[in-house]
Amino acid sequence: MSNNKPKTYRALRHDVVRKKQLENADEVHHPNDKTKQVKRVILNFNETNKIDLKILELFAGQGNLTNLYRNYGDVTAYDKKHLKTGDSFLEYHRLISDRKKFNVIDLDPYGFPNRFFPDIFLLIDRGLLFVTMPKPYVNILNGITQTHLISYYGTHNPNKDEIIEKIGLFGLCHWRKIELIDEIDCKSIWRFAFLVEKVKATEYTGVRNNAKNLFIPPSLQQKLF
Ligand SMILES: C[S@@+](CC[C@H](N)C(=O)[O-])C[C@H]1O[C@@H](n2cnc3c(N)ncnc32)[C@H](O)[C@@H]1O
Repeated sequence: MSNNKPKTYRALRHDVVRKKQLENADEVHHPNDKTKQVKRVILNFNETNKIDLKILELFAGQGNLTNLYRNYGDVTAYDKKHLKTGDSFLEYHRLISDRKKFNVIDLDPYGFPNRFFPDIFLLIDRGLLFVTMPKPYVNILNGITQTHLISYYGTHNPNKDEIIEKIGLFGLCHWRKIELIDEIDCKSIWRFAFLVEKVKATEYTGVRNNAKNLFIPPSLQQKLF
């Protein structure tokens, strides 16, 4: 049965954006803005950490940023469509299972990167995390996307501050302290750069790890004692 309902303006615009993404058009993957940001952030980071960096690129596309990252160290780059080196959604689980660690992780999908949280933080003890985040309010939020955003951010249309705050909490799930050190605004996406640092739970919370000082939520106290 054919569906003769005309497409809405937003649906038509979505089709155009998807086509440009498939063509890897500059106006949807913003190579110049991303390049400038990576150079700026790594330069600052390297002033205090003069090391040969281990870099993980998830969603490397046609390798535009890969070529830049190679100037700073050893790059592992995954891309399903162009480089055909693997599916990032699956590969990152394998890297965690192999206990790999990186100094820089670049998470650059066209869609939402939320499915990588919180476990992406297991791949980084101290370093940088670049995240491309579509702006929820400029995208078509169908029921599936709204439920997806509610499950990660507690609201169907989170704003920038709510997203950044929640990423900070995702870091703490694995005792990583997260600091936003750079952000750029490219039309329909933000690119965030976070400084990530593994912390000791006891030091971070100021709580000694013995039974007397354990914080037990009131709802659980009756069940336990
Ligand atoms: C925003 S572009 C990446 C741009 C890239 N960082 C650059 O600097 O050129 C996102 C890319 O993700 C790739 N991709 C889509 N699904 C993927 C998947 N499941 N695993 C890995 N790569 C995927 C596509 O090839 C697409 O080019």
